[in-house]
Formats: sequence, C-alpha cells, structure tokens
Amino acid sequence: MTPARISEEVHIDLALPSDNAGAICTAKRLAGQAGFDEAGQSLIATAVSELATNILRYGGGGEVVLRLIHEPGRSGMEILAEDHGPGIRNIERAMQDHFSTGKSLGLGLPGVKRLMDEFFINSKPGVGTLCIARKWRRL
Ligand SMILES: Nc1ncnc2c1ncn2[C@@H]1O[C@H](COP(=O)(O)OP(=O)(O)OP(=O)(O)O)[C@@H](O)[C@H]1O
Ligand SMILES: [Mg+2]
Repeated sequence: MTPARISEEVHIDLALPSDNAGAICTAKRLAGQAGFDEAGQSLIATAVSELATNILRYGGGGEVVLRLIHEPGRSGMEILAEDHGPGIRNIERAMQDHFSTGKSLGLGLPGVKRLMDEFFINSKPGVGTLCIARKWRRL
C-alpha cells in the first residue's frame, strides 16, 4: 500500500466487547468528517465493526487506528486493525466466504475486502494479525 498523507488519527483500544460500540461511533464520525455520505459512513463503520469483532473474538484484544488520508485528487479513510494474539495460520482460507473457526458466518474478512477499495492483511501464528483497509472519495 502506498503511503498517504494523514490529517487526523484516532487510536481505539479494544479490550472488552463493549469497546466495539465506541469504535463504530468514532468511525462514523470520522467518515462524516471525511465527507462520506450516510451510506459511506455506514459501510466504513461496518468494516470497523467486523475487524474489531475479530480482534476481540480471536485476537485477545488489540487496537484500531482510524485515519483521514489524502492523495492528490482524493481523500478517504484508513482503518488499521492490529492485535498480538494467536494469528491466522492460513490467510487464504480465512479470506474465503464462510470459513470460520468460531462457528460464525465466516463473512467478516471477505466482507471488509469487498466493502473497501484497498485491503491488506498479514498475520503470523504466535505473533498477531494486521489488517489495513482504505476507502477513497473523489474530490
Ligand atoms: N484477529 C484475528 N486473530 C486470529 N484469527 C482471526 C482474526 N481475525 C480472523 N481470524 C480467523 O479468520 C477466520 C475468518 O474471519 P471472518 O471475520 O471472515 O469470519 P468469522 O469472524 O469467523 O465470522 P463472521 O465475521 O462472519 O462473524 C475466523 O474464523 C478466525 O479463524
Ligand atoms: Mg469476523
């Protein structure tokens, strides 16, 4: 992912299930600030919620960083989600629809990839998981 200029950055710690609500609220507010309409704000909030839920359910807690990003001709929002939990053994499999080790729908990660414009994931067993997703808005 190419580096973009960052004009604002908010860190949200994820330790308790209730922390997800704060992440969703902050994501909506920042997305509004970035100029996304109601639909865009909801889409970004959904992506944040999926990544935060995974961190809380599988990662043993972690953090989400929300950034307002800028490039010539476009602005947008970046979601960085990171934990130092058990990691994902097979990323390719985790990115497939309906793969879940938690008896859930298995649509979170592939859903985030579909909703956002750019998506990056890296994970190492025993080290943790990093996801970065971006949504752009033409100026
Ligand atoms: N942060 C994480 N740490 C460790 N494993 C993870 C993490 N995020 C996802 N995974 C693994 O990847 C799988 C797929 O994640 P995904 O979000 O797509 O589905 P899910 O969480 O199981 O179900 P859903 O999100 O639809 O409720 C998870 O079941 C889990 O095994
Ligand atoms: Mg999930």
